[in-house]
Amino acid sequence: MPTLTITTHSGDTRTIAADSGASVMRAIRNAGIDEMSALCSGCCSCVTCHVLVDESQLDGRSPMSAGEDDLLDISEHRTARSRLSCQLPSLDGLRVTIAPEDRAKP
Ligand code: FES
Repeated sequence: MPTLTITTHSGDTRTIAADSGASVMRAIRNAGIDEMSALCSGCCSCVTCHVLVDESQLDGRSPMSAGEDDLLDISEHRTARSRLSCQLPSLDGLRVTIAPEDRAKP
């Protein structure tokens, strides 16, 4: 069972267990961490499951699709560490920080 380390908006860090094959988004929600809305439930259409992967783990084990890349451009908080957690598999030992929420656009 993969183990993930999640840093929340408040800076708290939690280690959680993920079901094999689950996305990071699903693992975070299953662990009861509710500060990520994940509005589209994993359909890669909302960007509200944005996380920042630990810099030392940007190793290409899970390449980003063109669709994910395009969607992340919407976020005002995009960095080189950005991923959509619904598109990111729960790789054992992965460390992510939940990205700040984007402001609602008028
Ligand atoms: S949950 Fe909507 S893009 Fe990930």
